[in-house]
Amino acid sequence: MDKHFKRDALTIIENLEAKNQSFAGKKILLTGAAGFLGSQFIHYFLTLNDTGNLNEPCTVYCLDNFMRGIPDWLSELEQREDLEVIKSDIVKEKSFPVCNYIIHAASIASPIYYRLFPIETMDANVIGLRNLLEFARENPCDSFLFFSTSEIYGDPQPEYIPTPETYRGNVSCTGPRACYDESKRYGETLCINFWQQHKIPVKIARPFNNYGPGLKITDKRVLPDFFTDVLNDRDIHLLSDGKATRTFCYISDAITGYLLIMLSDLNGEPFNIGTETPEISMVDLAKKVIEVSGKGLNVTFQKSEDKEYLTDNPQRRCPIIEKARNFLGYNPNISLEEGLKRTYEYYLDHSQAIEA
Ligand SMILES: NC(=O)c1ccc[n+]([C@@H]2O[C@H](COP(=O)([O-])OP(=O)(O)OC[C@H]3O[C@@H](n4cnc5c(N)ncnc54)[C@H](O)[C@@H]3O)[C@@H](O)[C@H]2O)c1
Repeated sequence: MDKHFKRDALTIIENLEAKNQSFAGKKILLTGAAGFLGSQFIHYFLTLNDTGNLNEPCTVYCLDNFMRGIPDWLSELEQREDLEVIKSDIVKEKSFPVCNYIIHAASIASPIYYRLFPIETMDANVIGLRNLLEFARENPCDSFLFFSTSEIYGDPQPEYIPTPETYRGNVSCTGPRACYDESKRYGETLCINFWQQHKIPVKIARPFNNYGPGLKITDKRVLPDFFTDVLNDRDIHLLSDGKATRTFCYISDAITGYLLIMLSDLNGEPFNIGTETPEISMVDLAKKVIEVSGKGLNVTFQKSEDKEYLTDNPQRRCPIIEKARNFLGYNPNISLEEGLKRTYEYYLDHSQAIEA
């Protein structure tokens, strides 16, 4: 098993303490298994089995349509008995293995790619979700986790930043990001109503900018782009004025949060998962990436050829995570410096990723 994934998996196991046992002998269905979050979930479950943490091993059913390719790490794990790969499109599929836990993470998350595949993105978040919810109605599960997004808040008015779960959002239903934002919003509505009407034990995660091993270097999200420049010994080219701010949550903290949501009994509830600090501008983030690499590079500014590149892109994004702290004991603790260091180490070993 890849050492970078293993390190994160061990961190998650340490964070979850006795809660890891909840997966003993259990079956987990994971959609979007070949994606960034999928990679980390799979390595966590397999590491639980490998380290003898469970009285009985768990089994992971890894469903993906592989629209963005089959990652190397998955080909390496495919022969294992505690993992089954299912090539399938969640939008067309109605029948799944009966499982204790269902994690629905299938949906493109990178803005560049969801704008290239807007209909597919909407379908995965609405029709795919509906297929899974209907299946769970016929085949009860212990818990169901839907991946929504911080983008359901759109571009929040300044008084709602940092943003709590109670904020209703400021979202365009026709803009270039609407295929993603609006389908996630409707997805949340589906989840709440399937809980209220049919008692499907569904919970909702709203991730705020995760990063770390497993995030493809070709993904065209901001950190992979910065690391691509640095790995090629180029100055980092910003395609904006660099003033927009975000907080970044390292993947082992984020996965810990998602698992805590799934293992709770807080059905029908959305949770922000991310970090509250530091809220950092893109230009400062670029400087930090250069610092981590130890290379004498600079930050430069360019205009994107894509006219819609910055349309509806929020100027600030920062969560309030008090709800997850208070109700779940969520406590992210990997600093940005440490997270960037781990990510850089991963990219040094994985600088070649298939184009998505
Ligand atoms: N990573 C983040 O920071 C972040 C932030 C906000 C929301 N999310 C949400 O979390 C989930 C996972 O994100 P990620 O970063 O792993 O995304 P990703 O783009 O890396 O992976 C998504 C995976 O879903 C698969 N997929 C897409 N449509 C499918 C379909 N119809 N049937 C089967 N598989 C399909 C893709 O092939 C891909 O492997 C998504 O729902 C995303 O919207 C992630």
